[in-house]
Amino acid sequence: MAIPDSELILNKDGSIYHLNLLPDHISDTIITVGDPDRVPSVSQHFDSIETVIQKREFVTHVGYYRGKRLTVISTGMGTDNIDILLNELDALVNIDFVTREPRSLEERINLRIIRVGTSGALQADIPVGSHLVTEHAVGLDSLMQFYPLVETGLEVEVAREIQQSLQLDYRPYCVRGSDLLREQLGAGMIAGNTLTCPGFYGPQGRVLRLDLRLPTLIQQFQQFRHQSAEGEFRLTNFEMETAGYYALGRMLGHEVVSLNAIVANRASGEFATNSEAVINDLIAKTLARV
Ligand code: URA
Repeated sequence: MAIPDSELILNKDGSIYHLNLLPDHISDTIITVGDPDRVPSVSQHFDSIETVIQKREFVTHVGYYRGKRLTVISTGMGTDNIDILLNELDALVNIDFVTREPRSLEERINLRIIRVGTSGALQADIPVGSHLVTEHAVGLDSLMQFYPLVETGLEVEVAREIQQSLQLDYRPYCVRGSDLLREQLGAGMIAGNTLTCPGFYGPQGRVLRLDLRLPTLIQQFQQFRHQSAEGEFRLTNFEMETAGYYALGRMLGHEVVSLNAIVANRASGEFATNSEAVINDLIAKTLARV
């Protein structure tokens, strides 16, 4: 059945509503960054740039890197934007914009989506300036209250225990990312379990002028452990998007990996004086591996 105009919204030029992109703008590998100003930091390495498009915080450059066509897109911050990003990217490759029908299973395209973003370490042994690849992402945001995500036993157990320890009214969600992409892109990086938070301050235990409902939030996250046959699970770092990527990537059938430039350490109270260099190194490393 054709998807109605109100659900699959196309602009006058046929591009998808928020991303403002046409199917032809999508390469099979997509690199995403949060900050729109960081898109040129990726595309400056390209041999050539064929397209530059912007709408709101979604800036896209399409070009070639060492002969390989790549699309780099900025997303802004938060899993609400990742809901838009993943649904619209998927629509661009897996819905026929003329008939408005989803493509058949045989025609379906699986994208490789690589998030390159900044993050704060929770544990003292994860230094500022390091690069971390996310194995499991735990979402403290509400995005998965709206989708029937299927989680494995370990994922459900971890999420339940975090809910109990924080006395949350809802169960967070936990998703393991693509093993293949993690091995390809995260080689030599610290492997960690990332907490995706619905905010930078209170939800990450930062106090400026507002008190926290849970004053010991940081310590609880730092001390959280889950033992299973797969070993010990601990939480390593904070950011604001990864769990949305991993959950929607699993549901839509795309390979997703989150690479984190560690710019803060919440155990030591440090913030990287060279945060731009830390992220730029991660961008260069990522491009060399795509
Ligand atoms: N991004 C976050 O969300 N938190 C940090 O501490 C650093 C970057």
